[in-house]
Amino acid sequence: MTAPHSPPASAAPRVNPLQRLWLRELGMERLWLRPAPQPQAAPAAMPQVPVPKQESPAATPQVAVSKQESPAPAMPARVGAVPARDAAAPPPASAVRPAGPGPGLRNGPPPKPAPKAEVVTDAAPAVIPVAEAVKNATLDELREQVVACTACGLCGGRRHAVFGHGGQPTRWLVVGEAPGEQEDRQGQPFVGRSGQLLDSMLSAVGMSRERDVFIANVIKCRPPGNRNPKPEEIAACSPYLMRQIALLKPERILVLGRFAAQTLLGTDSTIGSLRGRVHQMKTEEGREIPVIVSYHPAYLLRSPAEKARAWQDLKLASRQL
Ligand code: URA
Repeated sequence: MTAPHSPPASAAPRVNPLQRLWLRELGMERLWLRPAPQPQAAPAAMPQVPVPKQESPAATPQVAVSKQESPAPAMPARVGAVPARDAAAPPPASAVRPAGPGPGLRNGPPPKPAPKAEVVTDAAPAVIPVAEAVKNATLDELREQVVACTACGLCGGRRHAVFGHGGQPTRWLVVGEAPGEQEDRQGQPFVGRSGQLLDSMLSAVGMSRERDVFIANVIKCRPPGNRNPKPEEIAACSPYLMRQIALLKPERILVLGRFAAQTLLGTDSTIGSLRGRVHQMKTEEGREIPVIVSYHPAYLLRSPAEKARAWQDLKLASRQL
């Protein structure tokens, strides 16, 4: 316990000025004026991702922050670069805030600058925007670009980018949302339970993923926890899908699920209003490709009663249009 009287002159209080005022009000100020603890060495097993600490205000560390950086993705930035906003998770508020009270911040010492995100670029090659890089890419080149892509923050958490897979010439291009856990592990699209259902749906209309169908996703890297992709991730990734469409020249496109349908058709209409009819998508070369919208297999697994509607969608897609 700290002596209630006469702290050493050099002692730095561990309370901020507002807290000091409160303590003074309570007549407890002196109890808290004790030498600042020596900064402790960071424990060996410090988490890489900042975890906001649940500490009492008096124990708010003044400096907790300097090491609060998320690891920059160790990938060569050939196509795209991780925007700083995505590369570094925002440090917790308690970490960047100096220990002074909120309102006094403006007049207090300037806060330490937040750590800057580092982008590791092997020999710093020029960063080419995705839309530019894909322009003249062949399918193999496009695959290489996708595998090495760092255009958004998703690259930091992926095991594999999932380019897509299928037969050529491509009769149907099937477009899903984004890789899930299994797809991220294996680097192939629709290989989990949804994929098994998709395969049987396709074979019910005489289609095979090896022979007639190319399967791809709007987003090539798995969003953490399978969350919905963010607008900036969609914007960064969609040039790849557009180039896939231009190169594969599918006879038609079957879009699975609300997210992919809305992205591809540029609408926020519900899936219920988008399915059951044939849309047209105009490619950059001016070609029109019929687009059929259906439910995502993951949704059908949860709502098997909707399989009858999905069957109608597949029959619509199989029709001579
Ligand atoms: N869901 C998708 O949308 N795509 C996949 O590749 C797997 C699951």
